[in-house]
Amino acid sequence: MSNLSPEADRQPPPTHVAIIMDGNGRWAKARGLPRVAGHQRGVDALRGVVEAGQEMEIDFLTLYAFSSENWKRPPTEVDDLMGLLRLYLRREMRELHRNGVRIRFIGEWQELAPDIVKLIEDAERTTAENKGLTLIIAVNYGSHREIVEASRRIAAAVAQGAMNLADIDEANFARHLHTDGIPDPDLVIRTSGEQRLSNFLLWQAGYAELVFMDVLWPDFTKKSLEQAVEEFHRRERRYGASTS
Ligand code: FPP
Repeated sequence: MSNLSPEADRQPPPTHVAIIMDGNGRWAKARGLPRVAGHQRGVDALRGVVEAGQEMEIDFLTLYAFSSENWKRPPTEVDDLMGLLRLYLRREMRELHRNGVRIRFIGEWQELAPDIVKLIEDAERTTAENKGLTLIIAVNYGSHREIVEASRRIAAAVAQGAMNLADIDEANFARHLHTDGIPDPDLVIRTSGEQRLSNFLLWQAGYAELVFMDVLWPDFTKKSLEQAVEEFHRRERRYGASTS
């Protein structure tokens, strides 16, 4: 991909960018370091991309920090990732709040350790009125479960007579997802060269542009984000319609 062209520079940024941060383990392995070192550098990259998102005036940035499948990793690695999440929330919340960032979490985060749940609740509450970038962190998130849970809630409402079958439509269904109130992503980026969605925002990304980049997540910079946005602008978005 080329440098950001003046034309791309002038176009408005995508409203919502979502990122599958992949490649921390390979980054560490290539340097003979433990996997946790890759995750630590991954947090540095995450910090950089949040700053870049603010500078580029992206309104919503969603980051896939921990999937519901990540519990299958060795317990020490799960502990490391939870430890990094804890540290991130403890250390960076004040700064994010100062910068007007609004923080939201998606996923079954209520199932995490009680102290992390409290940090998440505090972060969401403290930043709820902020008007800058909305940072959405997906933790213990998986789309299949999200969709099943939404279906269950809707079925319960119908069974209780609080909702009619005829009221179930796309907009209504989307209001039962974790992303209620958040516009669908325009651009989904996955790093590390893998080309799949891994159970991430399957409903919400129905019309998103998918950009797969060879860079490993710890090496992802503001420049990488700009390149992805440039690629986004190059693609024609038709939403299933024809061009003529
Ligand atoms: C994928 O790399 C990355 C993850 C599973 C986690 C991403 C997490 C962070 C960047 C840090 C923690 C998050 C927060 C919010 C503090 P991988 O380990 O699957 O890499 P590999 O495919 O090369 O092994």
